Amino acid sequence: MILTETIAVERVKQSRLAETDFNNLEFGKYISDHMLVVEYDNGKWSEPTIKPFGDMLLSPAMLSLHYGQSVFEGMKAFKNKNGDICIYRPDKHAKRLNKSLARMCMPEIPTEFFIQCLHAIVELDQAWIPTNEGASLYLRPFVFASEPKIGVKIADQYKFIILTSPCAAYFSKPTRLKVEDTFVRAAEGGTGFAKCAGNYGGAFYPTQLARQQGFDQVLWTDAKEHKYIDEAGVMNVMFVISGKLITPKLTTALLDGVTRDSILTLAPGLGIEVEERKISVAEIEEAFKQGTITEAFGAGTAAVVSPIATINIHGTDYNLPAAGATSFQQKVKTKLNNIRLGVEPDVHGWNYIVRL
Ligand code: COI
Repeated sequence: MILTETIAVERVKQSRLAETDFNNLEFGKYISDHMLVVEYDNGKWSEPTIKPFGDMLLSPAMLSLHYGQSVFEGMKAFKNKNGDICIYRPDKHAKRLNKSLARMCMPEIPTEFFIQCLHAIVELDQAWIPTNEGASLYLRPFVFASEPKIGVKIADQYKFIILTSPCAAYFSKPTRLKVEDTFVRAAEGGTGFAKCAGNYGGAFYPTQLARQQGFDQVLWTDAKEHKYIDEAGVMNVMFVISGKLITPKLTTALLDGVTRDSILTLAPGLGIEVEERKISVAEIEEAFKQGTITEAFGAGTAAVVSPIATINIHGTDYNLPAAGATSFQQKVKTKLNNIRLGVEPDVHGWNYIVRL
């Protein structure tokens, strides 16, 4: 790697590793020692620099704060069984980041450059990669408009930053989801497929209401009729109904999840038929009534494969059995972990090995 050899690095004087409780890794609580920063100005990205993670001087007039040009990715790095450091599917994440950037009129980042930046920061802070089961180093690349100007315009200056954070499973237990039939996360033609900050901010209020009613997340439905299932905001959703794996087909209102894609790729090899299609709330309700739904789970980078315990439909709680060892979700989760950790061959080329 050329970049990792030439990149300007300012190291921390004192690492915060010793203050980090690796046995209690609440999602997003700990940020690793360093961050990678790249500036965009005059139509091009600068050389990256790595510096200690810390506060930055930014203008309160910067455009992202006012008009929302801010997008991010969520990715993971692992240490595999041979001691190699792997970044999971960086090319797929680069593609999605660039789709998000294009939708928000922000400058794209060349895939190879993006991967080299990830390589550099993960290599430097490799001591932060947790090795306890189910834990990983969460990577948070993000881009925001930094140009200081209140005029309503597409910014000409941006920052691309990568933070990393050791983390455990996002949900510590099976989730309770509430089918949302009042609020909307995203409409077709909007920004739902883009990982832009506003999608998350807009979801806070309905999610807060759902939490007050005892749910963990909202299960979003389509903006037009609240008839079809979209996603759960921090994860895509999948169902096993009559022995088939069913998940909503992607639209411009849904995030094209990397874990979603990985599961759909692995599913046929695990002996299950896959259907990507529209799935109505009524169909899910009927499947509960008929007893044909046997599993429901979320799929996401942070969530990985997260069992769903309850789906509330129009005020009625429908419960699912605990996911046993022979459930599809357990089998696919194990398979995914085995591939990431080098226990099973990576036939799809999903692991980018950080060669030191
Ligand atoms: C992710 O899974 O990486 C996400 O971005 C979802 C959430 C933690 C923001």
